[in-house]
Amino acid sequence: MNTIKSFSFKTDQLTIEWQDGRQSQLAAIWLRDHCQMPECRDPHSGQRLLNITDIPADTRIQSVEQIDDKLVVVFAPENHVSEFSTNWLLDNCYCLNKQSDDRSEQGKKLWQTNSFANGLPRFDYASFCQSGITRATALQAVKDYGFVLLDGVPCEDGYILQVIGKFGYVRETNYGPLFNVRTEVNANNLAFTNLGLGCHLDNPYRDPVPGIQLLHCLESSTTGGESILQDGFMAANVLRDENPEHFKTLSRQWINYRFQDSCTDLHSRVAMFEVNDLNQVIKVRYNNRSIDTLRLERSQIKPFYAAYRHYAEIIEREELQISFKLGAGELMMFDNTRVLHARKSYSDGGIRHLQGAYSDLDGLYSTLSMLQAENHNDL
Ligand code: OGA
Ligand code: ZN
Repeated sequence: MNTIKSFSFKTDQLTIEWQDGRQSQLAAIWLRDHCQMPECRDPHSGQRLLNITDIPADTRIQSVEQIDDKLVVVFAPENHVSEFSTNWLLDNCYCLNKQSDDRSEQGKKLWQTNSFANGLPRFDYASFCQSGITRATALQAVKDYGFVLLDGVPCEDGYILQVIGKFGYVRETNYGPLFNVRTEVNANNLAFTNLGLGCHLDNPYRDPVPGIQLLHCLESSTTGGESILQDGFMAANVLRDENPEHFKTLSRQWINYRFQDSCTDLHSRVAMFEVNDLNQVIKVRYNNRSIDTLRLERSQIKPFYAAYRHYAEIIEREELQISFKLGAGELMMFDNTRVLHARKSYSDGGIRHLQGAYSDLDGLYSTLSMLQAENHNDL
């Protein structure tokens, strides 16, 4: 257990030397803003009661005293007393804990075909429902690899919505709470024909894009129709390695996406790669069917097409794809901001019927955190 070896302060900074040799340098304004006392934080919800403008701009440290495992800090000019426990300081200090970004490529396990020599992340649905540990492991696979397969999901109309209820909330869209993926006459979307679909992410024309997509196979007796998945973050990494300029173009040039039918007209304007403050990819939007008329600065048209083609070529590389055929009762669920999906064309004979639905990543991550806390207590 780490403890405080010594501390010192200046008016604008508290410095703590820890027993393990690490050091924290905490700015006075940060400490004051993070005061944990009941007048500054609601003890029930833990939410901040103060606005930044309630804190004097010339906040400074007046004194610091150690009492048991706490540092008691008095701030001028308010004469405000705050207590910070050692554990709180260790868990929250910005010198010891880097900003975590578990949505970005940095927080993921990037993959290619040979990453799954021991099999794909696949779980039995009954166990997914009954066991918190299986559910947490499956949801963790969605977080790490961006997808999971579930076997033995009852082949009932609408059952997919119950699956979503096990970890999150249904994201209803103009397609309804769920949509049927099967051959339709005069389909409003190529997904509802027997044509092959190239690797894509769904619905880049929405704001925000649904974070999770599920496809549940109810019937599968056609020839063809295999599914393909591809890690869009891995492909973006390959692009950056092969041509950093192309990566930059796809993360800087905003383009329009659109979906239209007789009762819908959805638009968005975003970059193909959304990056964070560290230039790491956090979302990919790639869908050749729904890119709207490209309107970029004239000088950007050719560079954009070169970068777009390069990324498309990387996505098509077989060594980056996994392929399998969904049978009745199988469901795949994937991070629709990261993992691209595709399907091969299928025959006219036989029936292929999938039901699809969307959900969001925040709900899944929240359920995963709660399950991990529960499972931890079970051990
Ligand atoms: C879709 C889609 C794939 C399939 O509906 O979004 O891409 O396997 N379908 O039919
Ligand atoms: Zn799709």
